[in-house]
Amino acid sequence: MQKVIALNEFIIQQQQTDYPAAGGNFSRLLHHIGIAAKKVNREVNKAGLIDILGKAGTENVQGEEQQKLDIYANETFMAELQASGECCGIASEENEDLTTFHEGLCSTAKYIVCMDPLDGSSNIDVNVSVGTIFSIYRRKSPIGTPATREDFLQKGTDMVAAGYVIYGSSTVLVYTAGNGVNGFTLDPSIGEFCLSHPNIKTPRSGKIYSINEGYYEKFPMGVKKYIKYCQEKDTATNRPYTSRYIGSLVADFHRNMLKGGLFIYPPTDSHPNGKLRLLYECNPIAFIAEQAGGAAFSDSRRTLDLQPETIHQRVPFYVGSPEMVSKLQEFLKAAKDI
Ligand code: AHG
Ligand code: MN
Ligand code: MN
Repeated sequence: MQKVIALNEFIIQQQQTDYPAAGGNFSRLLHHIGIAAKKVNREVNKAGLIDILGKAGTENVQGEEQQKLDIYANETFMAELQASGECCGIASEENEDLTTFHEGLCSTAKYIVCMDPLDGSSNIDVNVSVGTIFSIYRRKSPIGTPATREDFLQKGTDMVAAGYVIYGSSTVLVYTAGNGVNGFTLDPSIGEFCLSHPNIKTPRSGKIYSINEGYYEKFPMGVKKYIKYCQEKDTATNRPYTSRYIGSLVADFHRNMLKGGLFIYPPTDSHPNGKLRLLYECNPIAFIAEQAGGAAFSDSRRTLDLQPETIHQRVPFYVGSPEMVSKLQEFLKAAKDI
């Protein structure tokens, strides 16, 4: 019988090999993220059966309507991160300000977490895949004191680990600690995330482009021209490409990472800095993309090199197969968009 490697076992093994001096704090944090993911998965799975679908009747700080499951996922991840005793602060899409924990169980915590508790949540009522995105940093301020804004405004290059969970036809947790990307599928019969996608590598190029073409008229000229390039016939470069856009970053990125493709969320008239948030959407996805051999840019800058200024900051985002990212940038440069 093939040996199943569960997420917890994998993290402990990885820690013993790569960081023999580590004390298990990080493994504990990941373990609790896994528990929160299982709880959210349970609710997403039975969403049509209980009164948890639909709008909560509230807005988050960014003026976006909250779904009941946005709030459930936020509260669940916050509670598990605090219960781990390893997290001294959280920046979440659903919370206006930072949440800090520095007393009791968390008085020795050294990690902060940025998260999008439920990504793509406007899709939830119609059974389309949604996700959770998270990133983990070491705090800069002294242990035992309240975490500060500077702890959260670190560059993506300082990230210790990042991951996402996709609640799809199966539930998969994808994670990197800076030494490759691994995916774990939830086996519902034993309630464990089991290693199913070891050492994920993205193709250098692909056939999929993912962008909300409904906003075509609002896009920068370079993006418009790139879209036309994707649609042209050219057998040497395998064009026309295929257009695929779910409207859940996690699901669009996951597909493109495995098959090869490019995800684009450019600046538009209504969102002059793009729509996606640097801290808890773009940076963690960029870290995973690079670890899988892909690339991630925000206009002309590597996303992970950006210095964040505010916790809910938005940036343009181009992520995927490295040759496709370079091609898009050629178009943006030629049109003087960057
Ligand atoms: P969230 O549900 O966390 O607010 O994120 C939604 C995001 C992202 O998942 C997706 O890529 C994008 O919004 C889709 O935006 P458009 O509807 O503007 O295409
Ligand atoms: Mn999101
Ligand atoms: Mn969200």
